[in-house]
Amino acid sequence: MSLRRTKIVATIGPASSSPEVIEQLILAGMDVARLNFSHGNADEHRARALLIRDIATRLNHHVALLGDLQGPKIRIARFTDKKIELKNGDPFCFSITHPREAGNQEVVCIDYPDLVTDCKVGDELLLDDGRVVMQVERVTADALHCRVLIGGPLSDHKGINRRGGGLTAPALTEKDKQDIRLAAELDLDYLAVSFPRDAADMHLARRLCQEAGCDAWLVAKIERAEAVMNDDALDGLISASDAVMVARGDLAVEIGDAELVGIQKKIIAAARKQNKAVITATQMMESMIHSPMPTRAEVSDVANAALDYTDAVMLSAETAAGEYPVQAVAAMARVCLGAEKNPIMRRSNHRIGQQFERWDESIALAAMYTANHFPGIKAIIALTESGYTPLVMSRIRSSMPIYAFAPSRQTQARVALFRGVYTVPFDPSQHPGSVSKSAVEELVKRGIVEEGDWVILTKGDSYHMIGGTNTMKLLHVGHIIS
Ligand code: G6P
Repeated sequence: MSLRRTKIVATIGPASSSPEVIEQLILAGMDVARLNFSHGNADEHRARALLIRDIATRLNHHVALLGDLQGPKIRIARFTDKKIELKNGDPFCFSITHPREAGNQEVVCIDYPDLVTDCKVGDELLLDDGRVVMQVERVTADALHCRVLIGGPLSDHKGINRRGGGLTAPALTEKDKQDIRLAAELDLDYLAVSFPRDAADMHLARRLCQEAGCDAWLVAKIERAEAVMNDDALDGLISASDAVMVARGDLAVEIGDAELVGIQKKIIAAARKQNKAVITATQMMESMIHSPMPTRAEVSDVANAALDYTDAVMLSAETAAGEYPVQAVAAMARVCLGAEKNPIMRRSNHRIGQQFERWDESIALAAMYTANHFPGIKAIIALTESGYTPLVMSRIRSSMPIYAFAPSRQTQARVALFRGVYTVPFDPSQHPGSVSKSAVEELVKRGIVEEGDWVILTKGDSYHMIGGTNTMKLLHVGHIIS
């Protein structure tokens, strides 16, 4: 059976918090478990993180943990009767002074005072991910007076966006700061920052993480129109992050669904070009919340993201709150494997005609060139401290498995996100005789290679040195290896 290269991020929620379901999710192919800090409390996330790590260790799988900060999603407050029904043409008002719990058919409070200064007459506001649309007709000191363009139900705490983006809430809230401390406590491997506008928001998140002692890799969620407005904005945001997420929910609301697919492809390509990992998210298997089988359109969506060479595809409500969490992961795994059979998955133009910037990058890319062109090679061994060397390797299209030989727990988990990269716990200092020989023996022991196969191995002159990779070896299994 061939190894799946495209990784799966599954959100853990009420439908997937029991030990039985977590075990089945891991066995079905969950590589990264997402803890969504927009829902649930700290104790729930704590319990889930511990359980996932315990079960993964028992099953001998390496599952990364990703915390997802809530961010400054602008939301309406509450209605006296929880929910109203709006009709096309109705007048409706968002007020910053109306009592928080007492929304009604005409008005609801909004927690975000700058909304009235950010918006002008003619703006379109989208509620509940665009299900309800309104246009601003009049702006006063404490309220936006709107007309309903597309009616529908509206209930407590629904989110609000402006078409075209540009609402200026800062990216990190007080709750996010608390959750960063929780991420530090739980030693999370990745932390996703919601609604960053630009690189400065990511720098701020990084500083807060450092202060809290959190060394998770930071994922920028690309979900504001400003972030994709031009190439400089997007590239700046990517370069300030360790990975990115195409967060299609809010992004589609702001830029419109018609442009979304093109932008998704652009974000994936831009991230890979900068040697960053990329996750494609939102509604990938949405119908599986209530159905054991995906629609053809969903199959096509997942397969296309895999063909675009995303590192990972993500499940949200499908696994957090759906009726078929395990089937959703299994379906995704099957579809990714199918897409990966396409021959375009092995042809790479990555960085052709470009200069390399670092020596370790040069070795990593030379290894991939060799892997794709020298017959007989069955595997790549990348000795790695932080995961960087296999990350760079996996930016190249290839069908060659990349084994990250990593000593630390965190790196062993982290590389689970990278496309085509698989963890092997390995500490070079424990093998003073011949590290290369021991590493190859480990792959033989696992049945991955056998006598006569070729293996590529990369490492540095001294062990445990981030950025130190300067050597590539071609090793013939069964022959003398020193
Ligand atoms: C391991 C090897 C070193 C190498 C390093 C690269 O520690 O023993 O020789 O320099 O990995 O780590 P990196 O984090 O840059 O992939």
